[in-house]
Amino acid sequence: MKKVLVTMLLIALSATAAQAGLRVVGRGAERQFDPSSFPPAMKANYDVVRVKCVKCHTLERLVVAVQTGVAPISGQPFDRSATKAYGIKMLRKPDSNMTKGQVKQAVDLMNYLLSEAER
Ligand code: HEC
Repeated sequence: MKKVLVTMLLIALSATAAQAGLRVVGRGAERQFDPSSFPPAMKANYDVVRVKCVKCHTLERLVVAVQTGVAPISGQPFDRSATKAYGIKMLRKPDSNMTKGQVKQAVDLMNYLLSEAER
């Protein structure tokens, strides 16, 4: 009986954890953030990211980086002190088709996502 209660408690706790902070929708390569609870400025930033950052890969990379704290390709740390460098790295890719202002919006969003993921 005790075991059943503990299991139920653990399931309840993990369900709550999944709801708090960031919400991700979709599976596998289709994974992306659910912006419904974002403040307006971050919704606007995410609109830019959803258009600009999917030219060469899906948003799965960003989801994995934010959720794990590790950049999925390089295995380097992905934290608030690193987001600007990742933004610049993406800007410098050939035909990235982004402005500096759009990259700044993406960096602000990444920092917001990281702080939400910590909650
Ligand atoms: C012009 C193509 C291109 C665009 C546009 C692009 N990326 Fe990338 N991205 C890449 C490539 C290529 C890699 C493979 C790893 C590398 O070279 O850094 C990558 C890797 C990544 C990684 C994993 C980095 C690592 O070190 O593991 C993240 C996170 C990422 N991109 C996020 C973004 C975000 C956010 C944007 C929009 C601001 C974006 N990408 C726009 C080409 C692009």
